[in-house]
Amino acid sequence: MFRHFGRKKLFAMLLALLLLSLCMSTMLLRSASAASTLAQAGAQSGRTIGVAVEANLLGNNPYTTIAQTQFDGVTPGNEMKWQTTEPSQGTFNFGPADTIVSFAQSHSMKIRGHTLVWHSQLAGWVNNITTSSALLSAMNNHITTEVTHFKGSIWYWDVVNEAFNEDGTRRSDVFQNVIGNSYIEDAFQTAHAADPNAKLCYNDFNLEDMNSAKSQAVFAMVSDFKNRGVPIDCVGFQSHFIVGQVPADFQATLQKFANLGLDVQITELDDRMPTPASSANLNQQAVDYATVAKDCLAVSRCNDITIWGVGEPDSWVPGTFSGQGQALLYDQNYQPKSAYTSFLNALAGTTVTPTPTPTNTPTPTSTPTSGSSCSVHYVISNQWNTGFTTTVNITNTGSTAINGWTLVFNFPNGQTLQQSPWNGSFTQSGSTVTITNLSYNATLPPGGSLSSPPGFNANWSGTNSPPSAFTLNGSACTVI
Ligand code: XIL
Repeated sequence: MFRHFGRKKLFAMLLALLLLSLCMSTMLLRSASAASTLAQAGAQSGRTIGVAVEANLLGNNPYTTIAQTQFDGVTPGNEMKWQTTEPSQGTFNFGPADTIVSFAQSHSMKIRGHTLVWHSQLAGWVNNITTSSALLSAMNNHITTEVTHFKGSIWYWDVVNEAFNEDGTRRSDVFQNVIGNSYIEDAFQTAHAADPNAKLCYNDFNLEDMNSAKSQAVFAMVSDFKNRGVPIDCVGFQSHFIVGQVPADFQATLQKFANLGLDVQITELDDRMPTPASSANLNQQAVDYATVAKDCLAVSRCNDITIWGVGEPDSWVPGTFSGQGQALLYDQNYQPKSAYTSFLNALAGTTVTPTPTPTNTPTPTSTPTSGSSCSVHYVISNQWNTGFTTTVNITNTGSTAINGWTLVFNFPNGQTLQQSPWNGSFTQSGSTVTITNLSYNATLPPGGSLSSPPGFNANWSGTNSPPSAFTLNGSACTVI
């Protein structure tokens, strides 16, 4: 048959086919990982991806370019610590921190304030105070002055940092020794009074494995705070990991703390290894960073992952842990490592769900059980001028398993779903939203909640009230 074609025609046809297939594969690749920065990938599920930044490193350099293009959150590495902000009693210096705040604001990055009360990088004069009333007054004055200076700019404050020992007892520092146990809640009360809109965290390392004595002690303290109404909003998990040692229960730990009604954040992530780095360790590090991303994405109240630095030259690891390094996403030349790619893909990957198409009829992957008893907790975890992020927690309050579910609700104020919701197949028709399970979250055990609840970003204007009613497989649910 090719005899009937001229050679030129055949060549042109083959060339056209080749171009078409190239074009199609590029489109497929693009739709599978549309995000080209960490911030974009995190934003697909409403997570902020932050970086620790130091004022004296900012300038016309790769460090700064990466910080401002890849990330949408900033934590000052040192500039908000007591040593810098109140080096002598009553003399405040916010200059270096102001530099970071302006940098963050000019790139629309959220700011984590770090940190108000900490035994380390503390001004020397504080250690000389010997009476409880004098120290309490110095601590409260420090907190009030610093929080007031940055009022309106700070998303979350690390109010108290590293107050526990590994065995779960309180660290013996000047605050503990002179004021006693109550200094932590006093610090939270004072910070809240100074900026009621800032969210407040307790931040520490080695909380990531819930079996550790330290994690349990901090859990007990923050549970008690929640019970007694001490104003705490969040627990920060520093996550200074050693390659290959991300605790297997990290996701479960994040969920355990989140279940207290707290936000959970990964605040100082790095993953160190002996240097020079072996390729096996660099590969393991790529796995570790992806694991951390997945652990956070699986917990709806995990809304931030902050990396403790941009690349090897600015990392605190080589100077602190002898013979260790290569803990970050960029190498000694600020080139992205394989950890960068796997972290990016993990952040984006779980959100590649079907695009909402209003005409679709939901097709459950298994037969719905009718007459379900259910409760729904609709949580707006983040809201900005035009958009918001919601997780829809669904609990089966009945005594039989629900296999396959369809949840229906109405947006009350004209809200509209954005692209790429997660953990469900979504359609919106007028104000009515229908969410159907995916294969991996079809089953709701009796008395159990979805461990991968559906969530979405949506637009709002004017008012953003939550829906007042939900039905699951046609039956009304209790709204909690
Ligand atoms: C580190 C900084 O990165 C270093 O530049 C500084 O020399 C020491 O502190 N836990 C914390 C951070 O909460 O503030 C620490 O940051 C790292 C450990």
